[in-house]
Amino acid sequence: MIAAQLLAYYFTELKDDQVKKIDKYLYSMRFSDETLHDIKCRFRRELENGLGRDTHTTATVKMLPTFVRSIPDGSEKGDFLALDLGGSNFRILRVKVTQDKKQPVQMESLVYETPEDIIHGSGTQLFDHVAECLGDFMEKQKIKDKKLPVGFTFSFPCAQTKLDEAVLVTWTKKFKVSGVEGMDVVKLLNKAIKKRGDYEADIMAVVNDTTGTMMTCGFDDQRCEVGIIIGTGTNACYMEELRHIDLVEGDEGRMCINTEWGAFGDDGSLEDLRTEFDREIDRGSLNPGKQLFEKMASGMFMGELVRLILVKMAKEGLLFEVSSKENIHNSIVFVDYMTSITYNEMLFEAKSKEGLTKCKEILTRLGVEPSQEDCVAVQHVCTIVSFRSANLIAATLGGILTRLKDNKGVARLRTTVGIDGSMYKMHPQYARRLHKTVRRLVPDSDVRFLLSESGSAKGAAMVTAVAYRLADQTRQ
Ligand code: GLC
Repeated sequence: MIAAQLLAYYFTELKDDQVKKIDKYLYSMRFSDETLHDIKCRFRRELENGLGRDTHTTATVKMLPTFVRSIPDGSEKGDFLALDLGGSNFRILRVKVTQDKKQPVQMESLVYETPEDIIHGSGTQLFDHVAECLGDFMEKQKIKDKKLPVGFTFSFPCAQTKLDEAVLVTWTKKFKVSGVEGMDVVKLLNKAIKKRGDYEADIMAVVNDTTGTMMTCGFDDQRCEVGIIIGTGTNACYMEELRHIDLVEGDEGRMCINTEWGAFGDDGSLEDLRTEFDREIDRGSLNPGKQLFEKMASGMFMGELVRLILVKMAKEGLLFEVSSKENIHNSIVFVDYMTSITYNEMLFEAKSKEGLTKCKEILTRLGVEPSQEDCVAVQHVCTIVSFRSANLIAATLGGILTRLKDNKGVARLRTTVGIDGSMYKMHPQYARRLHKTVRRLVPDSDVRFLLSESGSAKGAAMVTAVAYRLADQTRQ
């Protein structure tokens, strides 16, 4: 054998060995199809509990009615502002919807910083900040003298009794702002705008980012009836039959339900699947005991999960040669650093050589002198953690799809899922794995996954457009 071949042979052997070792070590994070089917069934029960009159109050998956009753039908038009708060960026957009066939939607947007002290400050500070940014945006757009309809994508669980009222149930993800839970965010924002007095705005609709995503994709594909986010947080919405939504009057037609699936497991129903690492993440979080499914599956927690696993492995001597004190120190420094390595950097998970080279580069930059084995190990831990996320989400999505299928009473479900979020978009393997598992878990379906290219704000503008048209009809 020539040298290069020998090396490749040696490397494959090494890789296989290392991979097997990690697989064994993280056995509890790898789910069989049987387990995934079981999760799918558990989640279906949660959906039913959240919808039922007698079970809703105690249900963990809240199934919040959104008062969005249909996906866009193409007749929407107008000039709108859209606010997008709660994802990885705070964005303000101007969305012009016309009947122009070539370019029906034009958008301009700006991203505004939301500093840490605002995310963890008071409600007054937060909404003053939002109002200030909106004023700045209108000034730049030269529309401060106009009173445009505003759609507000607010990516947190809200109880709604109409489109333009949204009472925050609880903060999730990185937000913890005092004095907002239990309050209507439309009222708080209106108050902040009025206090300034330098412009007016007409907030017509509050939508969750999942709903916004479903509406954005629904504009291009009328079959779209599910919206999913897999980013900082994770959540899904779908169109449910009104006759099954006990909390809302009426039996005809459908309404979009924001499932808030991030809270799945908060009643202990996922205890058998959570690991010591999941429990540690939860203990150190802003909201212990809450959003347990989200903490296992969303991007915000991926890097930290990997880090915790690597710390344990390093301590047990399974990783990074612990021959010298300095090396032990360096490995701890490295794993501490991993917090700042977000899931985007997990690109080195890519199964290719480049992935491994990148992994080595990062480890070396952090002061660890990794062996080839270490790199393979780190890469494989990343794979297991993100694979588990894709599997969990495939299972819960499977629950929604089987529900849709039963609602329609068809033998085979044909549907489109609108989807967005950095984890799904940026991770090189994630989307493919998710699609594959969903198709395996719900074989009697043809599911099209449609990436929301323009975010959820376009969808928020669509909802606003409909609300505006209806309000206009009542005014006349
Ligand atoms: C969190 C929020 C939810 C949102 C999701 C994705 O789970 O509670 O409302 O849709 O993050 O941003």
